[in-house]
Order: sequence, then C-alpha cells, then structure tokens
Amino acid sequence: MLKEIHEQPQVIAETLEGRIAGGKVLNEILGVGASELLQQTQAVHIVACGTSYHAGLVARYWIETLAGVPCTTEIASEYRYRQPVVQPGTLFLTISQSGETADTLAALKMAKSRGYHAELAVCNVPESSLVRESRLVLMTRAGPEIGVASTKAFTTQLATLALFALALGKVKGMDEGRYQRGVRQLETLPSMVADVLALDPQIKALAEHFVDKEHALFLGRGTHWPIAMEGALKLKEISYIHAEAYAAGELKHGPLALVDADMPVIAIAPNDHLIDKLSSNMEEVRARGGRLYLFVEQGIKHGLHGESVLTLPKCGEISAPVLFTIPLQLLAYHVAVLRGMMPGL
Ligand code: M6R
Repeated sequence: MLKEIHEQPQVIAETLEGRIAGGKVLNEILGVGASELLQQTQAVHIVACGTSYHAGLVARYWIETLAGVPCTTEIASEYRYRQPVVQPGTLFLTISQSGETADTLAALKMAKSRGYHAELAVCNVPESSLVRESRLVLMTRAGPEIGVASTKAFTTQLATLALFALALGKVKGMDEGRYQRGVRQLETLPSMVADVLALDPQIKALAEHFVDKEHALFLGRGTHWPIAMEGALKLKEISYIHAEAYAAGELKHGPLALVDADMPVIAIAPNDHLIDKLSSNMEEVRARGGRLYLFVEQGIKHGLHGESVLTLPKCGEISAPVLFTIPLQLLAYHVAVLRGMMPGL
C-alpha cells in the first residue's frame, strides 16, 4: 500500500500523458467522433462501487459546475435492482479499477437496454470485462494495484474524470479562464502530489493520536465530502477503526451527539467558497469538546485551530480533491501499522 501511495506522482503523470497539449484537453481522448458525442450529451449518469463510487461523487460536482451538465452518481449494487428512468442524451459512465466488479458489470448490462446515449468506462485494466463491454473507454494508467486498499487507482480516476469534465465543459462553452486554470492544475498535479507526500513525517506523528481510538469522524463539504468518505473508508478498511464521513452541514442533524473527546474529528478544509460554512461547523465540534484534526489549504484566513493542523499547498478546484486524498491515505496506513494491522512491518 505504501509503495502504491508513493507511486502516485508517476502514475498520475502517465494518466495525463498525451491527453493534454497546447493548454487543452484533447477531445480524441474519447476516440473519433468524441466532439459530436460530447456535444449531444445532455446528462451523465455515473455508477460504481466503493472507492470508485467516491471518485464518481467528486466527478458529479465537476461535471455540473464546469460543464453545466446534469449528473447523478449512484452505487452499482443499488442501481442494478431498480428501474431507472433515462432522459434522452444521457451518457452512462462506469468507474472501476478492476473492470470485473460484479455489481458494476451487472449495472452496465442493464443500462444497455435502457436507452442511454452511450456507455463510457473509466477503468484501469485494458483487458477487463467492463472495457470489453463498453462502447467508449477512458483508461486510468495506475498500473497493477495489489494493495487491498485502493489508493493510486482512486487518484488516477480523479485525474481521468477531470479530463472528461474539462473536455465536456469545453464543448459546452465553459468559461475559458476557468478551463485554462483547470488544465494548468492537471499539468502541475504530479509535482504537487509529490509535495504533499513529503508531509509524511507529520502525518506519521498525527497517526499516534488515533492508535487507541475506536471511532473517528471525517467531515468535508462540496467535492471534499466524498474525499472525507474516502478517508473514512481507508481508515476502517485497514486499521479496523470504525470511521464515518459526513457532509459537515449534516453534523447538527444527528451525528454531533456522538462527538466528545474520544471521537476524533478530521476536517478537510480547502480554501474554497464553503470555508466559512465549514468553519462554523468546526465551532459546533469544539463546543461539544471534540478533538479536531484539521487538514487545511495554505493561505486560509480563518483562525482554524485544533489538536493538530496539517497545511497543504495552495490548490484549485481540480487539484484540491486529489491533494487532500494523499494525507488521508497516509494517515490510514500509519494508524494501521501502529495498531499492528500490517504484520511484518
Ligand atoms: O475494482 P473496482 O473499482 O470496481 O472495485 C470497487 C470497490 O470494491 C473498491 O473500490 C474498494 O472499495 C476499494 N478497494 C477500497 O479501498
């Protein structure tokens, strides 16, 4: 897992290779006729499982915000057993590392009889069933992922989905400045991921605070709500600590009752339009005597304070979800090692 976490700068660079040129995302990434297909796309329906589902939740924000195209994201094991109503011009998008997840494959099979505009797979294994069965394919290039906990597959999925959202945004007339900033963030993403990986000693020290805990709560807003979900999934999956994620605005609608000194709260705080809202949610945690661990973006003006504050470099709407994922992966890894869940280490 640690090896795969550290491969991320390289595999993200490989995933972007040949897909951006002259400050633009190349439409050919989706094959011949892609411009027409994107032009005709009126909505996107994303279906996936687990970590891949979390990538799809981030993509939903990007597709709606950048391209102005309606998008929904759904768990494959739910989708396959219901009767979805499909609007004309809807693109069906599956996301899977392996391309062999039974629920995702079954969802794709069902979708084919539902009148979607086309099926697109974002996948890491070229010879997989999902790739073979989909009309369009965008490969992630994470290389083989051996670790049970998905790490590099997730961040390469995000990079690939950002390419897709920007390509769709371009044909749908998104603001040119925003488009250029998005492309630039992708171009610099590998080196920024390397910068965040260099924070590892601080994250290892932070992990000590979690060793004897039985529960943890992860909070985020906007694109960072699914990143909080991913952080919670990683922690529970490898350290066996019960971890949940909430959209920070939901805290007062129930889960706040659980917050006390034994329930560490990890908050993800990028410097975006939701920072004021998140900041007031942090006050709610403090008022309950909760222990706050903050992952913040450099330059935040708010006096956010907690047990510990980890500062990430300045990022943007595309790079932030990827960059904030890295310390959450490392945290889960170090907590698992300290709790003796990684025999041999
Ligand atoms: O291969 P897939 O991406 O379709 O797998 C879906 C999930 O089983 C997977 O993402 C799982 O949640 C992760 N390995 C958890 O770290």
